[in-house]
Amino acid sequence: MNTVRTSIRPVTTRSRIRDLYAHPLGRDIIDKLLLQLGRSSRWVTNPAVGALRLDRLPRLTGGRIDAAFLDTLVDLLAQHPDVPVDDDTTPVTPAWWKEAVFYQIYPRSFADSDGDGIGDLPGIIERLDHLVDLGVDAIWLCPVYDSPNDDNGYDIRDYQAILAEFGTMADFDRLLAEVHRRGMRLVMDLVVNHTSDEHPWFVEALRDPASPYRPYYFLRPGTGEDGSEPPNNWTSFFSGSAWRHYPEHDVWALHLFSAKQMDLDWDHAPMRADVIAMVRWWLDKGVDGFRLDVVNYISKRRGLPNGNPMIGELMRFTGVEHYFAGPRLHEHLRQLRREAFAPYDAVAIGETPGVGIELGKLLTGEDRGELDLVFSFDHLEAPGKVRFDDYRYDLRHLRRVLERHQRAFGNRSWSALFLDNHDNPRMVSKVDPRPAHREAVAKLLATIQLTLRGTPFLYQGQEIGMVNQAFTSIDQLRDVESLNRYAELRSAGSTEQEALVGVLAGSRDHARTPMAWDAGPHGGFTTGVPWIEGDGDHAQCNVADSRADERSVLAWHRALIALRRAHPALVYGTVEFDRSARGHLWRYRRSGDDGEVLVVCNLSDRPRRCRPPGPDYALALRSVPGGGTADARLAAYEARVYVRRAASSPGVAPTVSHTSIVPSSDGVASATPLNR
Ligand code: NOJ
Repeated sequence: MNTVRTSIRPVTTRSRIRDLYAHPLGRDIIDKLLLQLGRSSRWVTNPAVGALRLDRLPRLTGGRIDAAFLDTLVDLLAQHPDVPVDDDTTPVTPAWWKEAVFYQIYPRSFADSDGDGIGDLPGIIERLDHLVDLGVDAIWLCPVYDSPNDDNGYDIRDYQAILAEFGTMADFDRLLAEVHRRGMRLVMDLVVNHTSDEHPWFVEALRDPASPYRPYYFLRPGTGEDGSEPPNNWTSFFSGSAWRHYPEHDVWALHLFSAKQMDLDWDHAPMRADVIAMVRWWLDKGVDGFRLDVVNYISKRRGLPNGNPMIGELMRFTGVEHYFAGPRLHEHLRQLRREAFAPYDAVAIGETPGVGIELGKLLTGEDRGELDLVFSFDHLEAPGKVRFDDYRYDLRHLRRVLERHQRAFGNRSWSALFLDNHDNPRMVSKVDPRPAHREAVAKLLATIQLTLRGTPFLYQGQEIGMVNQAFTSIDQLRDVESLNRYAELRSAGSTEQEALVGVLAGSRDHARTPMAWDAGPHGGFTTGVPWIEGDGDHAQCNVADSRADERSVLAWHRALIALRRAHPALVYGTVEFDRSARGHLWRYRRSGDDGEVLVVCNLSDRPRRCRPPGPDYALALRSVPGGGTADARLAAYEARVYVRRAASSPGVAPTVSHTSIVPSSDGVASATPLNR
């Protein structure tokens, strides 16, 4: 299919639901709402529903969807009139960042070189060879800039200085040189939706209403008779109102995140110019690009109107419809691309919460000059669930979301593939917290992540199968989001235990405990007292022991990465999902000029029967030892990867060595095809 329609008929309040669904952003919004409601998209393709006019919705929903909301919706769609190019016939344009496997480092928890309990840049340098050994190509380094650390560095006080706890600028320069010397690339975190309240721009803006920095932020008078109410009803992602009151200055400041993370006003051109100059300063140093923090939030709807309460309730945050895809988003991204990224050919990776498939395609469309790839988040929680809900994640949801995403994305847009990061509990624990399944689940997830279309981002610890921590008290948690939520639950009447339970399932601290390097004290992370304590799991799960074990999760990651490198089909090839494999059995093929790779996964904790592929497929990797060559039974959470050579290619054997993964005792030699 090769569609070249570039824009779409405007949606008005007299349009019908089917018109809304035909609009790229409208489709994303409906899909998101259906996901939150736990409903299938078949609901909206039902002709009776599709024929409903939007202006009937206020009556039908008893006013919960009101005229103001419809106006916002119509305006929002008008601001995104473009249609992404759906093209899956032209081959994918090659790029290093499509081929690369990224590894995310959370510096505070990675490796501490000086015994102060806090990870640092020299510590990262000491551990770079671990990444070389694993086979990663690029590092995404979470913020290392000077910061008061209210949100562990995502609250930046000085964009051009290194946080003293992490080292010096000389350490950074050395890190960059050492990364490059090893043939890897380094991508930094660009946090420019907000700054710290201690950034000199904000300090000045607050102190002096006539300051040139005043328009850099959203500083507004209060509402209500005496100005004691916030300017609007938006809520913060970290609890409470999104406005901080400064009574001594008689003003309120917008902060979508913590009360020390002040939102920047991207509509103010001098602010954008300062950001662009800062980005260029880093690119001049030789960094290879940036991951752009919550970058889809940078454009806010003019006038900052109140959010719709119903949407707020559904999304758990009020006001999102006014900034998750704001009016000038594309324009601002294009300027940033043109003036900062493009001259350096630097990669721009967008963190884009709430962005659906269609907007994701627009933001990364090759022809559009905005971002190169995006992180989307729809796969992270089950339908109707949010991160703080305590539930077992069903991998069939992952399958549904990823299949849909992979089918829709086409060849002209690109996305990131991730399961763990510093903002989420560990996926292995969400899928199945039982220790007996830990290794199999970790290998299964790695297989999915490293064989589908998109750029894989591994998060530190994922490569050895690190899991959630057994926190038992709020005193062990450090994250501002968890602590605010706990305080909010307590003040709403929860007991200490209830509030703790309300925080634990979703706490970001699960992924922020020290990297487990060995079985020694604090997992070899520090010789001092770590800033956040792990629960002792490093005794059974650590890098040193994993290296010595050829069946470890680490060895599995290494083998998959090597396989990916040996088979360009895994990067550029098409993806075809086998419709005959249903439910918990997932089979897909990646095909390219170099041949075909077939992936078979059991998404459940029970053995499943599966039809082994024909004799021209060689079993390259098998995650669960056991069985024989004609084994038609997948163990719980088992993953297998087969390789089929193109007729013109020499031989049928996989090019990757995997004898350590497929043990000889189970009768499957490395290049031996499975019998039917
Ligand atoms: C997304 C980051 O990944 C997260 O850690 C941070 O708290 C928010 N953005 C705010 O910067």
